[in-house]
Amino acid sequence: MSNTERFISKRVAAVPPSGIRKFFDIAAQNPKVISLSIGEPDFVTPKPFIDAAKASLDRGETAYTSNSGTLALRNAISRKISALYDVTYDPDTEIFATVGVSEGMNAVANAMCDFGDEVIVPQPCFVAYTAAVQFAGGVAVTVPTSGINGFQIDGETIERYITVRTKAILIGYPNNPTGGVNSMENMLSIARVAEKHDLIVWSDEVYDRLIYGSAKHVCFASLPGMRERTIMFGGFSKDYAMTGWRLGYVCGPKTLVDAAKKVHQYIIMSAPTMSQAAGVAALEQGEPFVASMVAEYDRRRTLLVRELNNMSLDCFEPRGAFYAFPNVSKSGMNGDAFANALLAEEEVALVPGGAFGDCGRDHVRIAYAQSYEKIEIALERMWKFMRRHG
Ligand SMILES: Cc1ncc(COP(=O)(O)O)c(C=O)c1O
Repeated sequence: MSNTERFISKRVAAVPPSGIRKFFDIAAQNPKVISLSIGEPDFVTPKPFIDAAKASLDRGETAYTSNSGTLALRNAISRKISALYDVTYDPDTEIFATVGVSEGMNAVANAMCDFGDEVIVPQPCFVAYTAAVQFAGGVAVTVPTSGINGFQIDGETIERYITVRTKAILIGYPNNPTGGVNSMENMLSIARVAEKHDLIVWSDEVYDRLIYGSAKHVCFASLPGMRERTIMFGGFSKDYAMTGWRLGYVCGPKTLVDAAKKVHQYIIMSAPTMSQAAGVAALEQGEPFVASMVAEYDRRRTLLVRELNNMSLDCFEPRGAFYAFPNVSKSGMNGDAFANALLAEEEVALVPGGAFGDCGRDHVRIAYAQSYEKIEIALERMWKFMRRHG
């Protein structure tokens, strides 16, 4: 142990490094590797959004904005949520712009968690959920879900994990890494439990527009009685192909938004100014771009899920986001062994499902945010692999 390690807080030392990064880094070093490991759109940000940022820079808008973000952006966010989900947020007091959902979640976790406070986190889930709670001094109480019902979660299951220390329930649908979408019935049962036990629901809706087939996104705050109990995290990274712009938002009741904004104000000041200009353009002009990206993701999803099932990698139909989460048990390996062997033997990078929670250990996450042609080549290589190992 180096003699500086003892200075690291127990809180931070206890959080393991992200299990995604390792595969991403190996893939990045070898140009022959096809990487379906990273949850990032392969599309370049649509031009009108880029132009809006350039115009903002050309106007000399290079200073901080209000801590909450520009009013133009907050108005556009408020209009979007009202038009799509019929929930009204006051742009002055109930919305603030963040450096992605990532920062928003950390601000909220810091604003709400005292040491030892518990947040219920169904898994498999985005790797940063548990870390955000732990960094804030809280305890992430993880709840396993299963592929049998598409990794959905209901209120009755969550209720079994509630204690006197529970403050919040953190859900993320459409889900990373499974692509699962929680049914309206399940969402309503979570709402009932939140009400019964006086809890806040943190709802990460960063993939709200990436929905396929007949599936519908349930905006948690739109459920009866839930607007006052929900912190909604929304973003631009996925729906609008804007990961590098680092922009997102938090919406919720004023008291909670004020507290989270206090953290944001001291840590961030304001989200990047030019990105906010791009964000307004995305919300105002983005529809055709979202529609065409969704259509292309859907084409890839159809190919991927069909072929995975054909090669005995059992995959339930993902209905949102851009991930498939097949069970790889029929290869005789768990997700970790499968991902390592596939990378070594066929130069295809995926992420072991265990990186998103122990209950995902027999799965791998495959991101179809990669061109159709590359997915086809990756599938050919996987067929070869499965002929040897299936
Ligand atoms: C479920 C989920 N939430 C949040 C994020 C982070 O989003 P942002 O880029 O807005 O910080 C990701 C990124 O992969 C994600 O998958």
